Amino acid sequence: MNDESRSTKFLKDYAPPDYLIKDVSLDVTLAPKGARIASLLSIEPNSSTVAGTPLVLDGDALRLESIALNGDDLEANRYTVTPGKLTITNPPVGPFTLDIVTLCDPEANTELSGLYLSNGTYCTQCEPEGFRRITYFVDRPDVLATYTVRIEADRETAPVLLSNGNPVESGAIEGTGRHYAVWHDPHPKPSYLFALVGGNLASIHDSFTTASGREVALGIYVEPGKEDRCDWAMESLKRAMRWDEERFGLEYDLDVFNIVAVSDFNMGAMENKGLNIFNDKLVLARPDTASDADYTSIESVIAHEYFHNWTGNRVTCRDWFQLCLKEGLTVFRDQEFTGDVRMGPVMRILTARLLKARQFPEDAGPLSHPVRPASYIEINNFYTATVYEKGAELCRMLQTLLGQDAFRNGIALYFERHDGEAATVENFVNAMADASGRDLSQFMRWYTQAGTPEIACSLDYDPHAKTARLRVNQVVPPTPGQGSKEPMHIPLKVGLIGANGDELPLKLKGELVPDGLLEVTEREQVFEFEDIPAPPTPSILRDFSAPVRVTTSLKPEQIEFLMIHDSDPFNRWQAAQTYATDLIASARGTGSTSARSARPRPAALRKAWSRPCATETLAPTYRAETLKLPSESDIARELGRNVDTDAILTARDTLRTNVSAAMADTLSEIYDTTATDGAFSPDPDSAGLRALRNAALDLMSATGTDEATDRALRHYRDATNMTDAITALSILSQIPSAARDEALADFYARWQDDPLVLDKWFAVQARAARPDSVETVHELLSHPKFSLKNPNRVRALIGSFAMANPSGFNRADGAGYRFLADQALKIDGFNPHVAARLLGAFESWKTLEPRRQALARAALQDLARQELSTDAYEIVTKTLG
Ligand code: ARG
Ligand code: ZN
Repeated sequence: MNDESRSTKFLKDYAPPDYLIKDVSLDVTLAPKGARIASLLSIEPNSSTVAGTPLVLDGDALRLESIALNGDDLEANRYTVTPGKLTITNPPVGPFTLDIVTLCDPEANTELSGLYLSNGTYCTQCEPEGFRRITYFVDRPDVLATYTVRIEADRETAPVLLSNGNPVESGAIEGTGRHYAVWHDPHPKPSYLFALVGGNLASIHDSFTTASGREVALGIYVEPGKEDRCDWAMESLKRAMRWDEERFGLEYDLDVFNIVAVSDFNMGAMENKGLNIFNDKLVLARPDTASDADYTSIESVIAHEYFHNWTGNRVTCRDWFQLCLKEGLTVFRDQEFTGDVRMGPVMRILTARLLKARQFPEDAGPLSHPVRPASYIEINNFYTATVYEKGAELCRMLQTLLGQDAFRNGIALYFERHDGEAATVENFVNAMADASGRDLSQFMRWYTQAGTPEIACSLDYDPHAKTARLRVNQVVPPTPGQGSKEPMHIPLKVGLIGANGDELPLKLKGELVPDGLLEVTEREQVFEFEDIPAPPTPSILRDFSAPVRVTTSLKPEQIEFLMIHDSDPFNRWQAAQTYATDLIASARGTGSTSARSARPRPAALRKAWSRPCATETLAPTYRAETLKLPSESDIARELGRNVDTDAILTARDTLRTNVSAAMADTLSEIYDTTATDGAFSPDPDSAGLRALRNAALDLMSATGTDEATDRALRHYRDATNMTDAITALSILSQIPSAARDEALADFYARWQDDPLVLDKWFAVQARAARPDSVETVHELLSHPKFSLKNPNRVRALIGSFAMANPSGFNRADGAGYRFLADQALKIDGFNPHVAARLLGAFESWKTLEPRRQALARAALQDLARQELSTDAYEIVTKTLG
């Protein structure tokens, strides 16, 4: 650990690089111990660099073999090697070359950053700072170079050799059992987009013809035996390529596009130019091994990484503070894609729910940071829900404010200006402003001010003037390092609904308001709607038009009214969630002061729920969503303080049981009429029916009767696809019974040799809300199929427990906190990135009731006393606050 790695880096300190690297030629010789990298760099000083300025290259875990400048060995007094750096003390004034030979050890690379071995396959992960673990380099995203890569390896164990760009040549090296391949990438790129792969991989191939007629060869490479699980990923890729042409006019720009799936991967996937590398969980799918949720996430992540080819690769980030420039925009693009090809209006429910579940707590806690952070210790800790999901919301708000056409023009202008460059958030927002003629200076605050804005709305009706006055107040709460905030520019979509359920036209000062879109820019604003014949019910933040929290003074009857009449699908769903949240949160013991009861009469529940979930004209996917009650974490978040996870669990179970009983007839009718037979198809309509049927089954099981358990077991036994099987298994795993044991044993027997499927088996058990779940998870740690070294396994067991089992993780005796701290500490010893992610589970500890808070603090303090990686150190110290 060198001191520099623990220092804070600031955006305000950005300075252009002293030296540019224009061209890179790599010669990589792969061998398990000691891969050898010979690198030839064409370097020139930047325009403002003073002659004699030392050239500082980054390097980590490398052994330097030799170094030559302009072809001559460099004398020892002309360079120094220090931890993390190689410094050339007095480089020539003009352009020059460096030849550097280094060794690295892929087999010992447990951090999975740089060049490593995954199940015998050589692969790389360079974002954000992994390239320096392959060779010495100016490893920052504003240094863009063209690359030529020659890879040499054993022919038998590594018949497949891939890198970025287009293939140039390949062949055997006579008499050695070795072979080589050469790749050339003509597009200048930053080092974090470099990739190479070498291994014994099976593949499927297809092709795509771009709008302008370029023929692109597509390949997906996987471990042998898994070729039959690649078709969905290939179809998804082709859909994404077409969609980007149609929606944004963006075409692919190389002759080949390859995807490689590996089983050891820290994150989801990586957009390396022309050679995306994926966690195999996000590639492999077959009806019996992957659920509809898996199919959906594969489709969206394949699209996400492909879309990066323009938003991220052709235009990249000037520095890592600008990460949202590529990630927020690309998430926005993949959300639009998934909405178009699969989810329709339900997409907004899914994206908003994810944002609220993952980003709102981050923004409300000690790790809160702006979408564009102003400082960091370890950039790996900033691949966050704020940068990704809130970053996507900022792009969506721009589209809402500007309109889809002007937004598309803004994207086009951004590429016109910055293609081939490393850009900033300002560059992006300026392109949007110039393309639309709008002033977006206040909008920029979304990138710099952390915290979720709170919007309070109240509506007054004036029967004489026939006006409805909507008063809107906005507050951006203080966050660490940001005490006071300026008001935001907020697109707020609203509607007013008449007593008979009709939409009322919205008129302000004689003008109709298009799409009900109001622009809130001040701390307090009043909108006076004219010609409103009678008191209306307001529908606020339609389509979740901004990432904000809204409070209204709606009465329960008005919320029920919206559940039935709101024409905005998002808000109709939101009304049902609010209705349920209020009921659960107001139950005794959850810490709320409200006196309402969690036991409303069955007739009231039936009335409230049957319309949204039973209406046959609504899409099944939508109806399925309305059957899902808010999660325990949703309730905890709404309460915001003094959280007692056991009380929440009890109150939620009570409401679920009551809704289940009140809706019994409707639910069993849905269950019976949505059964499908015939072959599995992942298409949206079939998936929607399965979602509805499984949501009905899940709610029916809330009664906990023998009949319900039997039904779930039958569902498990009859399942002909993973979606149905895993739904039943997850229901059963909550109910200690012979049925649970049978299903878990059966699932294990069938899938014990299939790591991705077995992860589901670990995860359902880790998520089951049981008093003994800490012990269960602890026992599973020593299961022969478990390994701390594989990130997917760790996330399935430890991650599911910490992030998706609130009552287990927050057990009143603190056992959950100690468990997580112990495991994270062990993992931190060899993979800091994965450890730091797990520790994110502590982010909301300050909202807990005092006893749990003290136990969580103790666990964190205990960690803070240990020897931690930079990654874990930053999370632990900032979380403690
Ligand atoms: N750029 C990748 C994406 O598509 C994420 C890679 C992050 N990797 C990391 N080690 N932090 O979102
Ligand atoms: Zn991304």
